[in-house]
Order: sequence, then structure tokens, then C-alpha cells
Amino acid sequence: MTAIVETRDLTRRYGSTVALSHLNLSIPQGAIYGFIGPNGAGKTTTMRILTTLLLPSDGEAHVAGHSVVRERAAVRRQVGFMPDFFGVYDNMKSLEYLDFFAASYNIPQARRPKLIDGLLALVDLSHKREAEVMSLSRGMKQRLSLARTMLHDPSLLILDEPASGLDPRARVELRELLKELRNLGKTIMISSHILTELAEMCTHIGIIEHGELLASGEVAAIMRSLQPHKTFEVHLTPGEGEDLAAALAAAAALAGGQPHVLEARQLPEAEPPQLQIDFDGDDRAAGALLAQLIRSGVTVTHFAGQVSDLEEIFLRVTDGSVNGGTS
Ligand SMILES: Nc1ncnc2c1ncn2[C@@H]1O[C@H](COP(=O)(O)OP(=O)(O)OP(=O)(O)O)[C@@H](O)[C@H]1O
Ligand SMILES: [Mg+2]
Repeated sequence: MTAIVETRDLTRRYGSTVALSHLNLSIPQGAIYGFIGPNGAGKTTTMRILTTLLLPSDGEAHVAGHSVVRERAAVRRQVGFMPDFFGVYDNMKSLEYLDFFAASYNIPQARRPKLIDGLLALVDLSHKREAEVMSLSRGMKQRLSLARTMLHDPSLLILDEPASGLDPRARVELRELLKELRNLGKTIMISSHILTELAEMCTHIGIIEHGELLASGEVAAIMRSLQPHKTFEVHLTPGEGEDLAAALAAAAALAGGQPHVLEARQLPEAEPPQLQIDFDGDDRAAGALLAQLIRSGVTVTHFAGQVSDLEEIFLRVTDGSVNGGTS
């Protein structure tokens, strides 16, 4: 896959603050790229550079092969940017709002009505075309803003925290909309500080902290690299005359001695009380572990590999315990 965004040692300083440090980012064409990091990580700074609103201090960035420093006009034709802040446009209808921006993109008047109707339909706002922008809900304003970023038919959409402040239903709608845009051939870069917000809708993710990229790549590959072992969750029923805590302790001791078991934890307080086994073997080895538990008289009622959730991975990465952290 060709990269539509490519940065090399991209660095940005504000006075003595280093907002971005030697960022090497590569976003493949057609990806939905989730750019994730805590407050102040450098997400907006990166996005503003990629949209030519801000110049880098050092390093390079290219969008669709054009330099964001030397070929700004060409970059702007390729990019639609939705900032995290929605400006106030009093006394303007949705239709007028889009028409105003279409005019500023030099889109001929004759072409505008059809274009605008199509975009309003795409973001599901046709019924609000005559409504004042001010009167729209936050989620509707976000969608209108998204329609605006698409007026000049850019190949790359850069959306800064589009999901913030949306209710769960609006988030689902946003997710569906992004999928639709991807089907239209757009590449989408989207930022958030909440990993789970992006996990399902992204094909790739990059994790940034203190201006440094800690991890970047396909969602599945990142999950694999950050999660070298599986965790099995085991529920069991105590034998006659035995209480659950004792059964858990006995099973934990037994599991702890088996091959490929890294750690066996008893969680009597969990709901339901359970055993968690960190395991680095394959499926055959997992089957052997289960068979061994059963042979030893443990009544196993549930035995399942857990997929550790993305939020957990994010916290693990950003607290510096993976990839040497931020140093
Ligand atoms: N105009 C500015 N002047 C000085 N420092 C700035 C400016 N803009 C950003 N910074 C600093 O650069 C760093 C990165 O900021 P940036 O806005 O890119 O982070 P972010 O990841 O978008 O954060 P958030 O999740 O809060 O939006 C921060 O330390 C911030 O204080
Ligand atoms: Mg920001």
C-alpha cells in the first residue's frame, strides 16, 4: 500500500517546548488511522502541520507526495480538515454555511446546489438544510462540519477529536459515516485520547505521547506486539465439602506448575470468582492445560481466552512500560 501521509523526523517546537520530536509517521492510502494520545501529546500540532496551518521546526512531511512546506496549495487540495473547535456562525442556515465555504473553495455556483444536497444527505442532515447552524445539536454541528471538509472532494480527511462530546448513539453514527467515507475511497486520520472510542472503527493506530510516536501500525499487529501472551479466564465449581476459595487456591497452585503458564492468579473477589492464567503456549498446549486441570479433579465450568482490551494496552504503552517508554 502506498502511503498518503509520510513524515520524516517531523519536529515542532514552541519556544522551549518540544511539541513533536522526530515523528516518523506513515499512513497508508485507504486507512482509517486512529491517532491516539493523552492531552498535550502533540496530536493537534501534527494535524495542523499536515494541513499546512503550521510549519514544522525541523524534518519533513508529505501528503499525497506533496511537501507541506514547499507545495502548500497542492496539499490543501488533497486535505479536508475538521478542527476540534467548531466556530460560531450566527444567523446562517446549514445550506448557506456550506455554500459559503464552497464559494471560498472557488466551486462554481452552478455546481453547488447538487454538491451540497449530496453532502447533506451523506451526513444525514437533509432535513436540517434550512435550519440555523446555531440551532443544531453538537452532533449535528459535527456532521455539518464534516460535510464542509468534503466540499472540495479531498482524498484525505483529518478529523481532530470528532467524537468528543458526542453521545453513544451519535458515536455509532459517526463510526458508520466514517466507514461510508472509506468506501468512497477516502483516507481518514482521526484523533482521540480515548482508545476504545477508535478501536473498532480504525484499521491502523498510532500512539503518541510527549511528541513521540510509541507505536504505529495495523490494529491487529499492534495488539499482537503488545500482547505476547494470552490470558485464560477459568471458572470452577468446588468439590464436595470444599469451599470455592480453597478450590481456587488448589487450582492456581496446580496451573502454576504447568508448561507455558507464566502466572496463575486466584481472584476470589471477582464476579464470578475465578482463576486467571497468563499463558504463552499455542492452542494445543492450552488444551493440554485444560485436560490437566480436569484430570486433577477440578470441575471447570468455563475456560476462555480473553482479548485484553485496547484501553488497557494504551495505558500500558503510555506509562512507559513498553518500547522503552518515551525516552
Ligand atoms: N500555540 C502554542 N504555543 C505554545 N505551546 C503550544 C501551542 N500549541 C500547543 N502547544 C504545546 O504543544 C504540546 C502539544 O500540544 P497539542 O495541542 O498538539 O496536543 P494534543 O495532543 O492535541 O492535546 P489535546 O488532547 O489536549 O488536544 C503541548 O505541550 C502544548 O502545550
Ligand atoms: Mg488537540
